[in-house]
Amino acid sequence: MEKNIAVIKGDGIGPEIVTEAMKVLDKVAEKFGHKFNYEQLLMGGCSIDANGVPLTDETIARCKASDAVLMGSIGGNTTTSPWYKLPANLRPEAGLLGLRKALGLFANLRPCVLYKQLSEACPLKKEIADKGFDMLIMRELTGGLYFGERKTEEVNGVMTAIDTLKYDENEIRRIAKKAFDVAMQRKKKVTSVDKANVLDSSRLWRKVVEEVAKEYPEVTLEHMLVDNSAMQLVKDPAQFDVMVTENMFGDILSDEASMITGSIGMLASASMNETSFGLYEPSGGSAPDIAGQNKANPIATILSAAMMLRYSFKMDKEADAVENAVNSVLENGFRTGDIMSEGMKLVSCSEMGDKIAEFV
Ligand code: IPM
Ligand code: MG
Repeated sequence: MEKNIAVIKGDGIGPEIVTEAMKVLDKVAEKFGHKFNYEQLLMGGCSIDANGVPLTDETIARCKASDAVLMGSIGGNTTTSPWYKLPANLRPEAGLLGLRKALGLFANLRPCVLYKQLSEACPLKKEIADKGFDMLIMRELTGGLYFGERKTEEVNGVMTAIDTLKYDENEIRRIAKKAFDVAMQRKKKVTSVDKANVLDSSRLWRKVVEEVAKEYPEVTLEHMLVDNSAMQLVKDPAQFDVMVTENMFGDILSDEASMITGSIGMLASASMNETSFGLYEPSGGSAPDIAGQNKANPIATILSAAMMLRYSFKMDKEADAVENAVNSVLENGFRTGDIMSEGMKLVSCSEMGDKIAEFV
């Protein structure tokens, strides 16, 4: 098969980790007889430097014309980078949010798996880590606080800022359906996370999720408050299968979930619309402190590329090959600095990419 992939390397460690994912994809193409054409596009800080804006119409149009988008990470150091002197709508993150919205990517799938080889890197107590876990966070990505009306103004001489958390029932229904659909392919349990003891948006969320649940009698649904969920994630992560939640809660909980897998450098993600089109990016940020040092962990990006093969290209065998290669490399003791532990072999970002490509 021939596929056109839009590639946004982005800022910070983005270019390094995406280069490794492309190395692995090229190996997949060679081994399975496919052809992947890459078109490199700018978004985020690098687009600000080149075009004065974090996202251009050209980048949106080229992404839409592609079969899938592979992305690294965007943004810089928020206290020192000149990008953060710009008005909020011209900063790197505005580019990513604008692209998610323009492509209609409302469903963000973040699988969090504790690899048994990495239980040493898991910061939880041994008896919890030894149980392992395998969950998927289904984060709503184009609504809620991220996209509600916001403003900062002076009210009676006092500076006041407002952000709005708004969801309509259709936005909740479509993400709930995605969650139940993936639960059907997994352990058939959905935990819907909200703050229904305080927020109206959460009360509507709960009601709509319950309606959707009726269409999936085989799936067990439970509701959990977001504060309790944060606690349960470190207390007993093995209880979760699919966790579905609104944009901001999902942003926060997925960072927490990534940490208990050993490192945020392990967490892949897929952002999908109603079809099989998607944008694939690691859940972590641009890590400007280690950018350009060939130290970053490319595994999350490589696993995101595997998700692209599986979800957008329907190449299950190929996706399995990538995931198995990651497993084998960990099994053989290769580690980047973030997941290093005693007795293992420390490798650079590009060596990790080489090793994974070799095992494909
Ligand atoms: C993420 C990131 C983004 C988000 C930032 C960079 C805007 O934290 O993908 O989780 O908050 O969605
Ligand atoms: Mg985040």
